[in-house]
Amino acid sequence: MADDASTTSPQVAPAVTEAKLAPGPVDPVLAAIDPDRGRPADAVVTRGLTLRFGEKTILSSIDMQFARGSITALIGPTGSGKSTFLRTLNRMNDKVQGFRYEGDVLLDGASIWTPGLDLLNLRRRVGMLFQRPNPFPMSIRDNVVAGVKAHRIAKGKQLDVVAEQRLREVGLWDSVKDRLGDSPFRLSGGQQQLLCLARALAVGPEVLLLDEPTSSLDPISTEYVEALLRQLAPALTLIVVTHNLAQARRVSHHTMFFYDGHLVEHGPTDDLFERPKDPQTERYVTGRIG
Ligand SMILES: Nc1ncnc2c1ncn2[C@@H]1O[C@H](COP(=O)(O)OP(=O)(O)OP(=O)(O)O)[C@@H](O)[C@H]1O
Ligand SMILES: [Mg+2]
Repeated sequence: MADDASTTSPQVAPAVTEAKLAPGPVDPVLAAIDPDRGRPADAVVTRGLTLRFGEKTILSSIDMQFARGSITALIGPTGSGKSTFLRTLNRMNDKVQGFRYEGDVLLDGASIWTPGLDLLNLRRRVGMLFQRPNPFPMSIRDNVVAGVKAHRIAKGKQLDVVAEQRLREVGLWDSVKDRLGDSPFRLSGGQQQLLCLARALAVGPEVLLLDEPTSSLDPISTEYVEALLRQLAPALTLIVVTHNLAQARRVSHHTMFFYDGHLVEHGPTDDLFERPKDPQTERYVTGRIG
């Protein structure tokens, strides 16, 4: 992983290194207050997950684990099912006409399709950032706290504190602090995407799904968002769809390659790019199919 992005902004810490993915604290005091204590090592697990639209099978029998605090990149040609897979993980496909699934998705060991499960709470735990920034038609400040209010995580003056904290976290505070009541639509595309990221983070998700989050951004904003993602990862589990293979290499610990309805190969990012096991993976990562 590159560490050059730390030069983009003094507010973004250097890239996460592999050392931070080492097993959790051994200090008994730290271990006792570790919020992930007692949780499964994998934040998300898919078991025999098959996804269909009508009669058409999009992906077959995906068995996959997403380690807590890791960044996984989903790569593959257009139409290979990356978005379908991603959107399944917080049940965004449930209402899509013709969508059917077999198998299961476990979040912290429990099925996301458990009867009676609170969908709003699932979406709070498993947040999402889309390709195009989608601020709500309300002020910048209200955008950040929209989910916080809906989930009654904070109220009144606390909302201002949350807004500032999250805007600082994504490095937007200094550029918007004097216009918190303004419309977000006058912000640049990159700033709008950071605002959406602040909004997603404000509700305290455990997993963040990102579908080509930088494909509508300029290179500087892209680099900035990549640095942020690396900084977020130890506390969050990130799953990122990208067409940008260089980005997958820079950002992710683990990569999944989808092709022709299958998860062809997955593994540590360096292995998948430098020592692909499958000839289709090799053709894709060397730019010969795509
Ligand atoms: N709502 C839908 N109804 C029917 N088919 C769909 C629907 N959404 C997606 N598909 C089909 O599912 C397949 C996978 O689509 P998906 O959007 O997951 O691909 P993708 O890998 O994200 O592609 P891209 O890189 O272009 O975003 C495609 O053949 C697509 O046409
Ligand atoms: Mg897609």
